[in-house]
Amino acid sequence: MEPVVLSLGGSVLIAEEPDTSYIRKLAKILIGISSKRKLYVVTGGGRIARYYIRAGRDLGADESFLDEMGIEVTRLNARLLITALGDRANHSPPKNYDEAVLSGRTHSIVVMGGVSPGITTDAVSALLAERVKASILVNATSVDGAYSADPKKDPDAKRIPRMTHADLIKLVGSGGGAGPHHIFDSVGAGVLARSKIALAIVDGTDLANLRDALEGKTFKGTLVQ
Ligand code: UTP
Repeated sequence: MEPVVLSLGGSVLIAEEPDTSYIRKLAKILIGISSKRKLYVVTGGGRIARYYIRAGRDLGADESFLDEMGIEVTRLNARLLITALGDRANHSPPKNYDEAVLSGRTHSIVVMGGVSPGITTDAVSALLAERVKASILVNATSVDGAYSADPKKDPDAKRIPRMTHADLIKLVGSGGGAGPHHIFDSVGAGVLARSKIALAIVDGTDLANLRDALEGKTFKGTLVQ
């Protein structure tokens, strides 16, 4: 079974108000995929992580401590998805890549959050894709692909349907401190390039399109390869 890794943005999983209907539908799709492909999901921190990071920074915490708080939130989000997935998934989020690989031997779906300070779950999902020898990573985020400029600020921004790994690295530049980053983080982009792992960037709220991307079919978004 060809493995596939899904980087699930926290903003997709954690809406303003709990959207359990979305999480149920997502879980159903993931369970369907898992009968054809081994599925590894890495959940982001979203608004809850940003809340803690902002408050902690205001209170004087250092950046790596803020990262640790962010990691805790990504794992909390992983637990929420695990709850919706039931027995197909692992019971608690693996804390590192070795644990994730081991968990994949006994479960058709493995869900985890962050791993170590200084990166984001995009990088975690890229490193996990290397470890499990996935040829594609699907990044489900709040925009429907990579754009030439920020589509929320620039009305002339155009979606880029295809790009190379070198283009992606140019686009995401270098990272910063704890908190929100680009469409995909720069560490993750470098990992995907060195191991020639394709990246599909899709809008995670469009579940039919997300399923197509996870099944390796044509999808709307950006394909990096
Ligand atoms: P996210 O992966 O959600 O990062 O992790 P992000 O880029 O801030 O979120 P989006 O994609 O824009 O919504 C949340 C925070 O948790 C810490 C980082 O501080 C990150 O900003 N984190 C996460 C780590 O330090 N290490 C990890 O392995 C994962």
